[in-house]
Amino acid sequence: MRSLLLALLTLLLQAQDAFLVKPYLQLGDAPRAAAKERLDLMWHAVDRDSVWTVEVQGSKGWNPQAAPVFRVLNAPPLPAHRIYRATLRNLPPGASVPYRVKQNGSVVFEAEALIRRLGAHRMIVFGDAANGSREQAAIAKAVLAQHPDAVFIAGDLVYGRGRAAEYRGHFFPVYNSEAVPLMRRVPFLGVPGNHDVPFAAFRDAAAYFAYWSQPLSGPPLKPGEPNAAPVIAGVHDAVVAASGPAFPRMASFSFDYGQVHWTVLDSNVYVNWESPALKAWLEADLKAAKTATWRIVALHHPLFQSSRSHMDDQWMRPISPILEKYGVDLVLAGHVHNYQRTAPLRFKPTKAGLRGRPVEGEFTVDEAFDGKTITRAKGIIHIVTGAGGAELYDPWQTDVKTSWQPWTRTFISDKHSFTVPDVAEKTIKLRQLDAEGRELDAITLTK
Ligand SMILES: [Fe+2]
Repeated sequence: MRSLLLALLTLLLQAQDAFLVKPYLQLGDAPRAAAKERLDLMWHAVDRDSVWTVEVQGSKGWNPQAAPVFRVLNAPPLPAHRIYRATLRNLPPGASVPYRVKQNGSVVFEAEALIRRLGAHRMIVFGDAANGSREQAAIAKAVLAQHPDAVFIAGDLVYGRGRAAEYRGHFFPVYNSEAVPLMRRVPFLGVPGNHDVPFAAFRDAAAYFAYWSQPLSGPPLKPGEPNAAPVIAGVHDAVVAASGPAFPRMASFSFDYGQVHWTVLDSNVYVNWESPALKAWLEADLKAAKTATWRIVALHHPLFQSSRSHMDDQWMRPISPILEKYGVDLVLAGHVHNYQRTAPLRFKPTKAGLRGRPVEGEFTVDEAFDGKTITRAKGIIHIVTGAGGAELYDPWQTDVKTSWQPWTRTFISDKHSFTVPDVAEKTIKLRQLDAEGRELDAITLTK
């Protein structure tokens, strides 16, 4: 009897112990689509030995995957913990595949993973996300209700300072809960914003590099180089060690999903996209995306926007001619906490801009495009979708059109919202929805 009780108690403790952060899906270092897809499954656990195994259901039963690897993150205030990563392989594109995680032989977690689709799909986008607010939770719930195939966060992933403790507090519990089981079902992708970079005051800042697993397909930056996220020796060592090859390279990357080529750029102030090496990478990346029907650039700091807040943060504008040259269709940004959409436009900078100063230039605006009857755009549509959770900026501007730049077509800053692009071969239907799922804006783009 006694030994039975002891066994039960041990089982109970094990179950409680299993995860500090429950398993979540990441695209991993798989930038291009493949006939046999793969996904990374990550979870966090106490820094103690356990035998972890991951199995994926196939036609003939459960297939054990290669043993997971882990790195330890030992940066206060959280106790040292293990970040596990297992790569799930041989996955059929577009399928919903059951998987399970075992600890010491017992199943401790089960879910289904949605594998990258080759064709039509829905990748939901929002920025300025996890601040622990009611609105963040409401948007997460509304995103789940739209059944995305994947989710992209356009920077400022977690407030206030991109810290491991903040991820534990109000990132994973919101996007990967029993009630909102998003991250265990679909991969989350993202780009670091100004709140996700190393801050001198916190040893657990820049946890992005340790907690995410995204393609290492960006410029091959090394620690300490110009354009790399600047860490401080003696402060951020633990995060750098826990990040492995992801630091600093994972800040920018590109990947394909369905008919879309995504180019994801770290737009933080320490990056100079006019430097020859970065400019060459950007050109080569867009040029190589020949088979994609659509090209999307995603970054945190917008090139063109109308909000009084962050009006002078225009330092990404000089890349506009390169994006136009290679036929980019959409630029998706965050940083400004509201929703904005421009007319299709082209921009020629006339004067080099300094950080925090306006970048002037000549605009060519496609006045004919309305996204309803005229759906072929001549130029790039710039979208700010920074209303994913953090406090909204300049709500008064919603109704004061005279405060908008002449090329702004929609500006909604009195509601939290997210972007739902439904991509098909020759069509993108783009909707902006609020936390109740109500449509705030809708356009169609065709080729
Ligand atoms: Fe920001």
